[in-house]
Amino acid sequence: MIKAVESAEHSGGAGQQAVADHGGNGHAAAPRVVRVRILRQDAPGEESYWERFEIPYVENMNVISILQQVAARAKSRDGRRVAPVAWDCNCLEEVCGSCTMLINGRTRMACSALVDKLLEESGDEIELRPMSKFPVVRDLVVDRSRLFRALERVKAWVPVDGSYDHGPGPRISPESQEDAYPLATCISCGCCMEACPQFTKIEVVRREDESAEAFEARKKTAFDAGFVGAHAISQAMLFNGHPTGKMIADERLEALTSQGGIQMCGNAQNCVAVCPKSIPLTRSIARAGRAATVWAIRKIFDR
Ligand code: SF4
Ligand code: SF4
Ligand code: FES
Repeated sequence: MIKAVESAEHSGGAGQQAVADHGGNGHAAAPRVVRVRILRQDAPGEESYWERFEIPYVENMNVISILQQVAARAKSRDGRRVAPVAWDCNCLEEVCGSCTMLINGRTRMACSALVDKLLEESGDEIELRPMSKFPVVRDLVVDRSRLFRALERVKAWVPVDGSYDHGPGPRISPESQEDAYPLATCISCGCCMEACPQFTKIEVVRREDESAEAFEARKKTAFDAGFVGAHAISQAMLFNGHPTGKMIADERLEALTSQGGIQMCGNAQNCVAVCPKSIPLTRSIARAGRAATVWAIRKIFDR
């Protein structure tokens, strides 16, 4: 539930001019400040609340630079001292996948979201919220462990036994490489899961008397009952197409056709629309669907 923290600043007057004014020549002047409202949450399971901030405008900022300014000031727009906002980021170049959040209502990467463009979309204020399908750890930081658990479920790796020299691997044709490469660019950002109507939030709260191991086991069981997500389906297809990865293709198909598997996909195609890497997720889903059908029929005849 969201608790509204409204303060004097909203009645106007106190803040600096944030809206671009037109200097008589028809061109919008750069705003002097950027206003941002952030949906905050102090700890897992707690109530969330809005807090508003104002920072000086600098050309070519991204959302991470805004958050750095917000953290450095640790003051809300009405001058109250507040705890610095928490968020995740690492690579700052859309590679690590850790900075995903809802920016002006759309799931995207904070490091590649440019403030000038966002202001064009939303007027004088930018809205930041944590992803809604993953449990909040604090403020904009979410727990993405379900995303990685889904990759485990479909065994999204090439099985290699030890580090012995097995000699050169099988050759892969340039056509197959070209086909596989886009799938290999997945950055585990979670955007496809956030946008998917079939992927619903699963939040498991640790009990007071529960050991870390018992909590992890309970989390895994809960995650495994939910939809695996487009990223995992696509990774399963990537590794089933690999000459060595193929060795456990049946195990991946088994996972994809069990509880929470590909049969849950409603083909709404929201996933492909929001993927920052433009991965052909619907192509992977169609391939996985066909492979799963063939595999299920084969299983009947193998009995
Ligand atoms: S196509 Fe499937 S995975 Fe993608 S958004 Fe729709 S239901 Fe989710
Ligand atoms: S498939 Fe795209 S949206 Fe989904 S986790 Fe990978 S990079 Fe992100
Ligand atoms: S910081 Fe790595 S993807 Fe944004």
